[in-house]
Amino acid sequence: EKDGHDWFMRKEIFEQPRAVADSLLGRRNADGLLQLDEMRLSDQDLREVDKIIIIAAGTSFYAGMVAKYAIEHWCRIPVEVELASEFRYRDPILTASTLVVAISQSGETADTLQAIRHARVQRSKVLAICNTNGSTIPRESDGVIYTHAGPEIGVASTKGFLTQLVACYLLALYLAQVKGTRFGDEIAQVMDQLDEMPGHIESVLAKSEEVYALARDHVENRSVLFLGRHAGYPVALEGALKLKEIAYLHAEGFAAGELKHGPIALVEEGLPILCVVPPRGRDQLHDKMISGIQEVRARGARTLCLAEEGDTAIEPYADVLITLPQVPVLLQPLVAVVPLQLFACELATQLGHDVDQPRNLAKSVTVE
Ligand code: M6R
Repeated sequence: EKDGHDWFMRKEIFEQPRAVADSLLGRRNADGLLQLDEMRLSDQDLREVDKIIIIAAGTSFYAGMVAKYAIEHWCRIPVEVELASEFRYRDPILTASTLVVAISQSGETADTLQAIRHARVQRSKVLAICNTNGSTIPRESDGVIYTHAGPEIGVASTKGFLTQLVACYLLALYLAQVKGTRFGDEIAQVMDQLDEMPGHIESVLAKSEEVYALARDHVENRSVLFLGRHAGYPVALEGALKLKEIAYLHAEGFAAGELKHGPIALVEEGLPILCVVPPRGRDQLHDKMISGIQEVRARGARTLCLAEEGDTAIEPYADVLITLPQVPVLLQPLVAVVPLQLFACELATQLGHDVDQPRNLAKSVTVE
């Protein structure tokens, strides 16, 4: 049942190329236009949307953070991302033209469910992104985008996350199509890039031994930091969450630009910092990240860098370098998170923990 793997989590990490491909399947019609089968919200409804609030918990929340970058960039609609457990207690401003997007792998998370109930009472439309057919959250929503990860058994979400990212990109592109904020050929180009992602993820998985060796080098560490920028920031947060959940290590993710506002005080000799380096060439993101990495290295941190192939500028500052395929910055989370999943899985295995059933955690959290 685990296909020769020791854990469901590891099996599910290796299933990701298929899960991503399945989640992309059948999304374009004969004219090349995007179609989302269970969207159920009419084009007219969507054209009226003037604000989007994404609600989710845990890993699904990090998918929501990536969605914000994609939707704002492609559709020019303001997006807020909110932890489900905080949402209804802060008296959020909801109207009939607010679209609430609830992201939940299980479709049963109580915090997220209560949040959408609250939104619907305020007459907002709710769209679910969910991996579980017929679960409560999609049943209580106005429309759904189903992900096709297949059942996820490991408590730590992996393929669930990647397919949520795919659904978020599809939603962003669909809104761009309906609202006319992007030309059809631009949308088609991104869809083509998405279709290449399963192959790219495969090429990252082919480097698993390199990542496992890195994990084995860090079994003695009690603390690991993660740095990212732009779409790499939620990846850093997700990498840290994986390590907390299954390796029980103190792990924290930071936006690289925030370092100087406090967290850099944590850096001491030998502290491992996993750095998600953005692709080169846009908005100085890459250069800014490199200067952040220089800063922590100058203070003794051991820099473990994930950077795109051919990025020679990072070499002098990386104690360890794992290369990623060249992909656009917004899509980079789909490849960059994979080594972080492998790293956490291997580290937890080396520490002798039960990777699939970590202490104190349940697969779906059905209490508020
Ligand atoms: O089923 P959901 O996507 O609503 O679950 C949300 C979180 O409970 C979930 O992502 C949790 O953080 C995972 N254990 C992360 O690996």
